[in-house]
Amino acid sequence: MNPIFANDAAIERAVDLLRQGRLVAFPTETVYGLGADASNPDAVRRIFLAKGRPVDHPLIVHIPNVASLDAWALSVPEAAQQLAAHFWPGPLALILKKRQEVPLEVTGGQDTVGLRMPDHPVALRLLQAFGGGVAAPSANRFCRISPTLAIHVQEELGDAVDMILDGGACQVGVESTIVDLSGAQAKLLRPGHITLDQIEAVLQTKVLLTPQVEQLDAMQIRAPGMMAVHYAPTTPALSCTTASLSTIIAGLIKQGKKIGLLTSHTHLGNESNLGIVIRMPKQADAYARVLYSSLRELDSLHLDIILVELPPQTEAWRAINDRLAKATRVYPNVLG
Ligand code: TXA
Ligand code: MG
Repeated sequence: MNPIFANDAAIERAVDLLRQGRLVAFPTETVYGLGADASNPDAVRRIFLAKGRPVDHPLIVHIPNVASLDAWALSVPEAAQQLAAHFWPGPLALILKKRQEVPLEVTGGQDTVGLRMPDHPVALRLLQAFGGGVAAPSANRFCRISPTLAIHVQEELGDAVDMILDGGACQVGVESTIVDLSGAQAKLLRPGHITLDQIEAVLQTKVLLTPQVEQLDAMQIRAPGMMAVHYAPTTPALSCTTASLSTIIAGLIKQGKKIGLLTSHTHLGNESNLGIVIRMPKQADAYARVLYSSLRELDSLHLDIILVELPPQTEAWRAINDRLAKATRVYPNVLG
């Protein structure tokens, strides 16, 4: 399926397709989503088939405005009102108790639902014209890197999607922050562009940090000899600290490895036999914007190893470090 420039006529056709229970990929400010009518269980099942995603992984429902929260959530707590008023439209998904009518296909069988109003003109026009909720995971195959360009969706899903709306490059570049407000205390389920500090400042209370199931899985899978699976390139991808970078590079070159390097460093000594180097921005938001497309680029070059220099371990870099932990294995210290 070729991406189509998202003009009014294309959006009108996309709305027709959604009403028919078909799949429409569309841009958001974070990553491209693979959308289906969230009130139509058959349409939602198509998402899981197209992605190869296990059916118990819940989907986020995208809504056109804050008022639509009531159509999906059983009740809207004060904290949800505050966060939505502050950050919507924007890269924040809220987990709330679901209304009974919300199909269990959307929520992976749970009694909670993820909701988000995205900040992208094409997504908002689509949602407003459609009028309902659009269930949309990232538009990649299961366990692969999320798409940040329409062409990535085409590469990932081919003809498994009925239409790809092209709205250019995603400006945030990593998936939304997810905050669970379904329990007694707010919990951060996934870090993103909107930081823990920002959320705590609005709520005026501490937000719990919970290790995600995905992370726990990934840790087990990161045992020696096994492949990392989440958000991962297909080329073996390793990460290392700035301090060990040059020693590790020297070791890999000695082994004759073709390396693709993601680094914010400007001085790496002799780069002539280094392989492919992508210089990453030194500022977290700019880094996030190009992270997935950079990994995709290196992944397409048939290299032996992708090596990523880990960014600082600070709050501003939390979402990026989270995604890098899923995409790479930390380089064994022995060589470094
Ligand atoms: O930025 C984003 O959120 C993108 C764009 C397309 O909006 N979407 C996205 O969807 O990243 P997906 O399916 O790739 O990730 C959704 C995450 C999953 O980790 C899922 O477990 C979690 O949201 N989630 C959704 N509903 C949930 C619920 N009821 N309870 C707990 N986690 C939930
Ligand atoms: Mg995803």
